[in-house]
Amino acid sequence: MNILLLGSGGREHAIAEKISQSPLCKQLFIAPGNAGTSQTGTNVFFNILDFATIEKFVLENDIQLVVVGPEEPLVRGVVDYFKSTTTLQKVLIIGPSLEGAKLEGSKDYAKAFMQRNSIPTASYKTFNRNEILEAENFLKTLKPPFVLKADGLAAGKGVIIPQTLEDAIQALKEILGTSKFGTAGDKIVIEEFLPGIELSIFVLTDGKDYIILPEAKDYKRIGDNDIGPNTGGMGAVSPVPFAGKEFFKKVEEQIIIPTVDGLKRESIDYCGFIFIGLMNVKGNPFVIEYNVRMGDPETEVVFPRIDSDVVELFVKAAKGELKNTVVQINPQTALTVVMVSGGYPGDFEKGKEIVFKNKLEGSLVYHAGTKEHAGRIVTNGGRVLAVTSFGKNIQEARKKSYDQIDEINFENAFFRKDIGLDLL
Ligand code: AMP
Ligand code: GLY
Repeated sequence: MNILLLGSGGREHAIAEKISQSPLCKQLFIAPGNAGTSQTGTNVFFNILDFATIEKFVLENDIQLVVVGPEEPLVRGVVDYFKSTTTLQKVLIIGPSLEGAKLEGSKDYAKAFMQRNSIPTASYKTFNRNEILEAENFLKTLKPPFVLKADGLAAGKGVIIPQTLEDAIQALKEILGTSKFGTAGDKIVIEEFLPGIELSIFVLTDGKDYIILPEAKDYKRIGDNDIGPNTGGMGAVSPVPFAGKEFFKKVEEQIIIPTVDGLKRESIDYCGFIFIGLMNVKGNPFVIEYNVRMGDPETEVVFPRIDSDVVELFVKAAKGELKNTVVQINPQTALTVVMVSGGYPGDFEKGKEIVFKNKLEGSLVYHAGTKEHAGRIVTNGGRVLAVTSFGKNIQEARKKSYDQIDEINFENAFFRKDIGLDLL
């Protein structure tokens, strides 16, 4: 079948690689893709938020399966567009409906969903722009650190964790009292701080049944030892050693099953990935957030570990036939280190030539912010490459990824040196 994948990051390159390995895939198109995906399939350049253009492309190229990588098309209703357009109704699509995508698009919606379905999460209250005083009074009843979340999509910048009440009140006023966060700041969720270690769980659901994909740990801060500003993610490891069998049993029983059952009971049309950001609080899982897509860079360690045919999994999910599906997972450790442009997550320059020397056995180099320019590959974003390696343990996978990074050069390249070290 012909397949269209929407997106352009390392996540999409990793998904594209797996799709292209499937005997079910005839032609793979990636919109808009990057310099890596163009070696896996055919990049096509159109705006993935322009649904009429997607429709035209799908019909002209006999696309039978669409996989949505990032959240934005989902939160804007691309799946509803497909389901309500007669000519597209037979096209299989991986992604939740507009209603389902609210689990990521609105923190308040996600918290209320968790509460209705008795899913463990931090206790919280939501306030709107007319309730700054009430919110301030609520903050005064809490102990630091404070957790403030702009309700809507805020490109990863919507969560603020101040250590003092003064800073918390200032952040509150910035979110509710100014236009800094746009409509994302129309509401604020203030919640209890959960101390613990974070991990990311990934589920593929058809809305009734589900399969659990490998879990991963993400490294969000720019600097070693989790110092400095938050980024999209600087590295990831899968599997996560501190998530043992007993913990996973709790995750499935207390979180995954109630989530999927909740979607079903509330008639929320959902076929796609559920990315559950979890806090392990003394052996008990609490949901920090839902995302309605795969994580990046987590996908760059999760997808390489999937030995099953992913196209077969996608087709089953889109047809509502996931029941009794078993997914084959590679038991080895996968570890990825993200190479970023100097200056990221602040200002950085683009257009630096990337020089690839030796390609090492056992490593996979996924492209994120790259493009082809005059026959060369140049940087085109903050996160440039994700270098993934397999090993029998974290030490081995780490060594291979860092050895592979030594074989790649671009001006002002930066990467964390400590990915995986905290798990040893
Ligand atoms: P999010 O954008 O929801 O992923 O939040 C960003 C980060 O803030 C998370 O990855 C956590 O590290 C942290 N965080 C969010 N909510 C809480 C909470 N209730 N307690 C502790 N940390 C939190
Ligand atoms: N790595 C975190 C995310 O994709 O949201």
